[in-house]
Amino acid sequence: TASKTSEDHDYDFVVVSNRLPVDRVTAPDGTPGWTRSPGGLVTALEPVMREKDGAWVGWAGQPDVALDPFDNEGIRIVPVPLTVEEIANYYEGFSNDTLWPLYHDVIAAPSYHREWWESYVAVNQRFADATAAISAQGATVWVQDYQLQLVPKMLREQRPDLTIGFFNHIPFPPYGIYSQLPWRAQIIEGLLGADVIGFQRVADASNFSRAVRRLTTNVTRNPVIEVVTEGQATRRVIAKAFPISIDASSYEELARQPHIQARAQEIREGLGNPKTIMLGVDRLDYTKGIGHRLKAFGELLTEGRVSVEDVTLVQVASPSRERVKAYMDLRDEIELTVGRINGDFATMSHTAISYHHHGYPRDEMVALYLAADVMLVTALRDGMNLVAKEYCAARFDNDGVLIISEFAGASDELKRALRINPHDIDGLKESILQAIQMPKQERATRMRSLRKRVLEYDVSRWSSTFLTTLAQSRAAQDDYADS
Ligand code: F6P
Repeated sequence: TASKTSEDHDYDFVVVSNRLPVDRVTAPDGTPGWTRSPGGLVTALEPVMREKDGAWVGWAGQPDVALDPFDNEGIRIVPVPLTVEEIANYYEGFSNDTLWPLYHDVIAAPSYHREWWESYVAVNQRFADATAAISAQGATVWVQDYQLQLVPKMLREQRPDLTIGFFNHIPFPPYGIYSQLPWRAQIIEGLLGADVIGFQRVADASNFSRAVRRLTTNVTRNPVIEVVTEGQATRRVIAKAFPISIDASSYEELARQPHIQARAQEIREGLGNPKTIMLGVDRLDYTKGIGHRLKAFGELLTEGRVSVEDVTLVQVASPSRERVKAYMDLRDEIELTVGRINGDFATMSHTAISYHHHGYPRDEMVALYLAADVMLVTALRDGMNLVAKEYCAARFDNDGVLIISEFAGASDELKRALRINPHDIDGLKESILQAIQMPKQERATRMRSLRKRVLEYDVSRWSSTFLTTLAQSRAAQDDYADS
């Protein structure tokens, strides 16, 4: 590529994701700068990359910017440009208006457009080419998420010497839903170019294996898939669950800092010192069940079972995919609901819902976690939900109650949380009341167990488990091919 420089041709470890860890932004006066990218993927992979001397291939978040590779806080960044049209077709279109709703149980209706698919193929090819150009002989490449499902196969075609891992950060849907996709077979073939395909939950891995059985002639013997390609030796691909996590101790360290604890106190006071602060933190996305949470809280207020003097809900909804129609509609709906509830119940001194349509820096998030007595994770479908894990990691005081939806991947691990079905509004209301009234002793027992899990199974364990499986699979592959 044009941006290739002499030192950029030989990385032994390469991560490939749609977004880079940093987003390029332009200030009102036209000066370019960088901010941290949104979402769980970056939260999880950033600490992994800091430990390794690798390169990160991805898009800088703005149209038509061709940038040379550079170093950012110890990570080598290799930008892949996207045009305005590709952002509309590959990113907003196929990734976020076809695959995203399809993979999240069709909570919103997916749109199928052939020109979006064509753009998805072209952009995946560009990512594969950029990666092939900078990877050393025999390097390990780790491709991330649903935006790049064709990259493993495209990369293998050019560079059979590479060891290729893929991790899907979002759910993989049941075959009855997946089969709607007009390009269902191509996506499966694309993924099968990897040596190891990782999923968040056991259920996602089995949904994938079933799709492989239905759409290909390959043999699946969980977790192994034997991929038969005409004229080539049979390859073994491993498809299994590797639940992602966070850099848990760094959250605890932040939470232990006196200025963050002081900030938590200040937040409580700013809200009028209610007895209970409840917190929701999400990208403003229809999969997160924000409306269900507001409905439950609104009903509790209407029925007089909680009052605004006693309970405040803080909702952080960070802006996301704002040019996709379903997201615009969601924002209108949520903000109308927040406005109505506040209009009906707020007093001069107490608000019902403190609503924030921005992202916050990590310090402020940790202060919020410490200030929150109850954390509400009510996703209708979520690959993992790292916010749930962040909350537990921050609560070194063994206090606070986590309410978590059974439809979030994190609920598989966080067994001592209050587990809810967000569609069951009455059940959700009961759990909220249970959380508000929970005795301190029980809160401590539960939080201790949650924290144990989160601190033990942190992100470095996740990446080392995945990468060890990947290295072993490649070694076994070579033996298998020789035999
Ligand atoms: O983890 C899911 C994910 O879609 C990531 O791939 C993505 O980077 C993040 O959420 C935020 O979404 P976006 O990159 O579309 O802003």
